[in-house]
Amino acid sequence: AAAQATGHPHHHTVTVAHRGASGYAPENTLAAVDAADDLGIDWVENDVQRTKDGELIVMHDTTLSRTTNAEEVFPDRAPWNISDFTLDEIEKLDAGSWFGPEFQGEAVPTLEEYMDRVSDNHQKLLLELKSPELYPGIERQTLRELRREGWLDHRHKRRLIVQSFDAASMRTVHRLRPDVKTGFLGTPAVADLPEYAEFSDQINPSYKTINADYVAAVQAVKGAHGKPLEVYTWTVNDGPSAVSVAGMGVDGIITNKPDVVRDALDDA
Ligand code: G3P
Ligand code: CA
Repeated sequence: AAAQATGHPHHHTVTVAHRGASGYAPENTLAAVDAADDLGIDWVENDVQRTKDGELIVMHDTTLSRTTNAEEVFPDRAPWNISDFTLDEIEKLDAGSWFGPEFQGEAVPTLEEYMDRVSDNHQKLLLELKSPELYPGIERQTLRELRREGWLDHRHKRRLIVQSFDAASMRTVHRLRPDVKTGFLGTPAVADLPEYAEFSDQINPSYKTINADYVAAVQAVKGAHGKPLEVYTWTVNDGPSAVSVAGMGVDGIITNKPDVVRDALDDA
């Protein structure tokens, strides 16, 4: 990936492509990873869940309905939960056409395929365990796949953050692999931050829930690895909002349109 422009006032603000560059390509597909790469964006966010036969795949919703043609291909399988379909079945689906005809035939990636593409592009991964309460053991399984693909090797670790809305799940990830950087998705009360800091390095809130005081209060607490807790906020898709949250001092901005965010910060 191309280096980000240097010298702008928000050079410290990391831009993360949310579900890939999902403003420009179907979310959570390899096309969205490549779209981010084409824009010179090195961090991509994704969502990980598990099939009926125990394979890890990349998708946001817990059902296949919105982002694939599952209802057409498997009309009798309501409510189309991911956990009711095998990988073989999911691989038959079209995860691109809903976004645009030019993406027809884009597949639902396995986590392994997704990690490989991120690696090939020399990008970095903000991996979300989505609804982990539905998938017992997904923390250990995900870490095992990450390790097998080399993502836990010492020299690669700075390219990985694992996050979730589920605090228990992040606590488990931290217990299993204390060396992995983790993020908690949400806006905990300031008084509760020390508890979250036991197992996380980041607090990642909706941008609609934060102000400069909150960001400063989070960053005043040391995270699981002894550094100030970071704040990566989501989902910021317009320039003025990006400039606003950067002004609050956030460490990262998670966005469907990483070029819009980067250009706005460059110009600010
Ligand atoms: O990475 C932050 C963001 O992805 C959290 O919300 O629903 O898009 O997974 P959601
Ligand atoms: Ca997500």
